[in-house]
This record gives sequence, structure tokens and C-alpha cells, in this order.
Amino acid sequence: MIELKNVSKIYGSEKKDTFVKALTDIDLTIEDKESVSIIGKSGSGKTTLLNIIGTLIKPTSGHIIIDGIDMAELSLDKLAVFRNEHIGFVYQAYMLEGSLTATENVALPLMISGEAPKKAFIKAEEMLEKVGLFERRKHKPDELSGGEKQRIAIARAMIKDPCLILADEPTGNLDEETGRMIMKWLKELTKEKKFIMVTHDNELASLADRQIRIKDGRIC
Ligand SMILES: Nc1ncnc2c1ncn2[C@@H]1O[C@H](COP(=O)(O)OP(=O)(O)OP(=O)(O)O)[C@@H](O)[C@H]1O
Ligand SMILES: [Mg+2]
Repeated sequence: MIELKNVSKIYGSEKKDTFVKALTDIDLTIEDKESVSIIGKSGSGKTTLLNIIGTLIKPTSGHIIIDGIDMAELSLDKLAVFRNEHIGFVYQAYMLEGSLTATENVALPLMISGEAPKKAFIKAEEMLEKVGLFERRKHKPDELSGGEKQRIAIARAMIKDPCLILADEPTGNLDEETGRMIMKWLKELTKEKKFIMVTHDNELASLADRQIRIKDGRIC
């Protein structure tokens, strides 16, 4: 279970022009195996909320408790390990490593946690098979289509069998048909997990168990 208690995020300081109250007093509970979509206008705080849940940024105040662990109590090193072990990220811009093959990209989280390359590559190829891209395993990102790149990114996000998958506009760079296909993969692969997705697309949002709308940094 994920619990956000009275979470606020302020960027910059009051004296500077970059001062922004991005999130205000967010209380939110997400159960295990629940899928949630976050919708709201550009600048409303969606990415900030997702990145706070993903422990990539710290809230200015409030607490994030994931499976009973208060994220504020973990050191930066422990947080990085926690993220690599328990959270899978999927981004609009794929964020694949351009110099690595599909297999190497998918294997990366395993290598980070010290798994031997040979074993990691076997697991990565099994994962590529699950997203229908075994044939593309030796391709580098610029030799793949947008939809294929996103499936590689999904395979990478899933490789350590994380309990939580976070996706920020995962279909934002794709045409409608490819976006639907990616959504099908995401739904299928995350059905036993907590899955939180930011999207502008109301139809995609409606596929999640619950929709959360944010406006000016508040849940409404
Ligand atoms: N590092 C930062 N420093 C200062 N302000 C920031 C920073 N990051 C985001 N903001 C501001 O915080 C607010 C929320 O940003 P956020 O990226 O969470 O919005 P969003 O809902 O994801 O928007 P979009 O749909 O355009 O991606 C915006 O007003 C943005 O300008
Ligand atoms: Mg955003």
C-alpha cells in the first residue's frame, strides 16, 4: 500500500522568481494491485506527484509511506536501492540508453543490483519475449520504432518484478493506434501490481481502476 500524508511540494524559495507551489496537502492511499490514472491540465502537478511517489524528488512537507516504510527515513543511498528493487519507471521519452542493445537496456536494472551479465541477459531476453520483441533484441534504440522503444522501456521497468510501476505519459509520443497497443501491454503486465499513470488521454485514463484529477496542485 502507498500512503501520502499531507504532502506538499514547493519549488524554489519565496524570494526567487522560480517559487512555485506545485502540490498542496495531498492525502492519497493506493492499495496493492490497484491501477490509478492521474489527470489534469499542464502544470497542475502530475509529474511532481508521480516523482514524489517514485522517490525521485522529496516533498517539502508530509510523508510518503510505501508498504509500511516511511521514505523520509531512508538515506539517499538506501532510497536508490529501494527504487531499483521495487519501482519500475516508464517515461514519455522512453529514456533508453542509446549505445546499448535492447537486451542490454532491459538487463540494466539487474546489472545495477550486481547480477552477472550472462544471467541478466537471459532474463532480459525472456522479458523481451513477453513484450513480443525477442527478434529485435540486438537492435539499438535508434533502430526501433516508437512503439517498440516503449515496449523495451516497459520490459526494463518490469525486469526486477517491482511491486509498483509508474508511467508518465507513456503513450504521449505515439500515434493513437500504437498508444492503444502500448496501453494493452501495460495493463496486461501490471495487473498484479500497483500501477500509476499520468495521462492527458481521457480514454486511456478510464482504463485504470481509479482516476485522480489534480488542479493547481490539489486533488479535486
Ligand atoms: N524544478 C522546478 N523548479 C521550479 N518549478 C517547477 C519545477 N518543476 C516543475 N515546476 C513547476 O511546478 C508546476 C507543476 O509541474 P509538473 O511538471 O508537475 O506539471 P505537470 O502537471 O506534469 O504538467 P505537464 O502536463 O505539462 O507535464 C508547474 O507550474 C511547473 O512550472
Ligand atoms: Mg508532466
